[in-house]
Amino acid sequence: MTKRIALIPGDGIGIDVTAEATKVLNTLIASRGLPLKLLAFDWGAEKYLREGITLPEGALDMFRREFDAIFIGALGDPRIPSNQHAVDILLGIRFGLDLYVNQRPVELLDAKLCPLKDRTEKDINFVVFRENTEGAYVGMGGNFKRGTPDEIAVQEDINTRKGVERILVYAFEYARRHGLTKVCMSDKSNALPHGHGLWQRTFAKVRERYLEIESRHLYVDALAMQIVKNPGQFQVIVTCNMFGDIISDLGAQLQGGLGVAPSANLNPGRVSMFEPVHGSAPKYAGKNVANPLAAILTVGIMLEELGFPEESARIEKVVAEAIHEGITTPDLGGSLGTREVAEWICARL
Ligand code: NAD
Ligand code: IPM
Ligand code: MN
Repeated sequence: MTKRIALIPGDGIGIDVTAEATKVLNTLIASRGLPLKLLAFDWGAEKYLREGITLPEGALDMFRREFDAIFIGALGDPRIPSNQHAVDILLGIRFGLDLYVNQRPVELLDAKLCPLKDRTEKDINFVVFRENTEGAYVGMGGNFKRGTPDEIAVQEDINTRKGVERILVYAFEYARRHGLTKVCMSDKSNALPHGHGLWQRTFAKVRERYLEIESRHLYVDALAMQIVKNPGQFQVIVTCNMFGDIISDLGAQLQGGLGVAPSANLNPGRVSMFEPVHGSAPKYAGKNVANPLAAILTVGIMLEELGFPEESARIEKVVAEAIHEGITTPDLGGSLGTREVAEWICARL
């Protein structure tokens, strides 16, 4: 049966990189006869400014009924300082489809891309599991006496037992499935005893079910420090929504920058969403300079989740070859454009 993928290029370089990543996917579909079909949706800043529409009514039901995956570029536009369309579309899909696992692998494909002295491929290979449906991202709160000197702003941080437990369990199960032996849970329970005390107590229970895995805890400030000091000590990191956002950008830089960092938003067994970690980088939009590799690696993860592990591995291999051979955009030290890098990859595939 043909699997259907919804494509949402979004804004800025999201449009540039998904155009190229889609060519890579279409190359594989054609050369290997993959039963996949892409359908594009023009949701993003332009549509919002033109029609006032962000995530159209019925979109989530349509995804649940008719699609197997969603591939997103990026959302964000300087003309929309409220970020309303990105909140509605991106967070709307994460929350609305209950995609509680945000999987952000940090894998150094070529030692020359790492900014840390003397670190090589063997030192940087871990996965960040970011809780993706709760935390400070839920949008609960408000402003009182707005715009006055007495203004009060409240932004609630929501942590539920069920939500914390399911992301911890997913991280441990992932480790078990992949023969990994180390899981690190990170929070800030020393300063946030209510919300993150729940993380502590849930972690204490869940880790008992995985005694063969060496599990430990680090406060998130110490985690940031340790990732830079000795990244090789980490295999699986699991943390809350906001810390996962920050730690995954830190990790991205260790592997060469946001231009090479892919991600998946999952709810196992249901329609899932795939996107590069980076944003819309407005200053590079439409200039053929954005690195397409993060989006191309994201296609790789999507193919793995859709049941095509061979093609997924092939994409990662060819991306690594491109980097080894200097077939890269300026952020990785190369002199090629977005399109030229993708063309090379398509030809190699
Ligand atoms: P950003 O990721 O867009 O860009 C930060 C910097 O990283 C860029 O200036 C550039 O130097 C580099 N970079 C990122 N992607 C690159 C690529 N593919 N190739 C080469 N260099 C790349 O983050 P930002 O500047 O903080 O945010 C810009 C907009 O994107 C904002 O509106 C923000 O809210 C949004 N955003 C969206 C997502 C998403 O859709 N998932 C993620 C992050 C930021
Ligand atoms: C990301 C982005 C988003 C997030 C923004 C655009 C809301 O930074 O996907 O990492 O914080 O989740
Ligand atoms: Mn981010």
